[in-house]
Amino acid sequence: MVRVRVPAKVNPALCVGATDSQGYHALGTVFQALSLYDDITAEPAPPGVFTLAFRGEGAAFLPTDDTNLAIRAAKLLAAAHGVDDAGCKLLIRKRIPVAGGMAGGSADAAGVLVACNELWQVGASPEDLHVLGAQLGSDVPFLLHGGTALGTGRGIELEPVPTRGTYHWTLALSHVGLSTPTVFKEFDRLDAGHSTEVPQALLDGLAAGDVAAVGAALVNHLEEPALRLAPALQNTLAIGREAGALGAIVSGSGPTCAFLSDSAASAALVAEALEVFSGVRAVRRAHGPVSGAEVVE
Ligand code: C5P
Repeated sequence: MVRVRVPAKVNPALCVGATDSQGYHALGTVFQALSLYDDITAEPAPPGVFTLAFRGEGAAFLPTDDTNLAIRAAKLLAAAHGVDDAGCKLLIRKRIPVAGGMAGGSADAAGVLVACNELWQVGASPEDLHVLGAQLGSDVPFLLHGGTALGTGRGIELEPVPTRGTYHWTLALSHVGLSTPTVFKEFDRLDAGHSTEVPQALLDGLAAGDVAAVGAALVNHLEEPALRLAPALQNTLAIGREAGALGAIVSGSGPTCAFLSDSAASAALVAEALEVFSGVRAVRRAHGPVSGAEVVE
């Protein structure tokens, strides 16, 4: 049996530009991997048998058939590396919110690539896994990589971002989910014509470990479309700001809202204020940056 731990992500910057011929948007995004993990176990199974089960957060809502990115990840690795007798039994314990804008589905795909690479002794390199990950989803390569990174193109061309210090994030989970393609469609409808340039103030703040500067420079071009689709999130953002968050932002395509603090004590105050708001389903706390998907036993 192989056990892999894979983090969630937040985007301190998500700058969205024009679409390409396939309808994908050009991105300039900073990712940070957070200490909110899904746990994946992969066990041997007879050739051609791929099974998947979920436990935990939102487990009941997830498909477990071939449409799930986790199964697709296992089959893609087997096909790309000629593992003829491949089979596996996957169990995913979810803590990353489902349809929350924290890349839960992509995290599981990244984790399965790492787990099956080990289980079947494939010997695929990190670069090989990156290429396969990019075929599965725009966030998968980053979740293999971890840390803090700048993503360009579709978000899959990555370079590490020099980062100092620890960033304390409070995450307000929503009662409803938002679908990423729907939020991008709303972005297109609003036609705001944004640039993919990540603010220099954000990169400087990360390099200096200046959490207040990072908080002030957080940017998400998908926030406006997400707020149009789920207006109650405005209240969530306001509550976290009033409780002293140094920055407040919709995470990715939402609806999770992410709040930045410079200490665990300040983050606890933000969490306390959000926990009593009926618009919030649950609150999680996490810190970043942490490593990408890795084998833990
Ligand atoms: O790549 P991924 O499957 O994570 O993307 C989900 C959806 O988000 C895509 O089908 C597309 O509608 C939208 N998307 C986009 N431009 C990107 C990344 C995602 O329009 N760079």
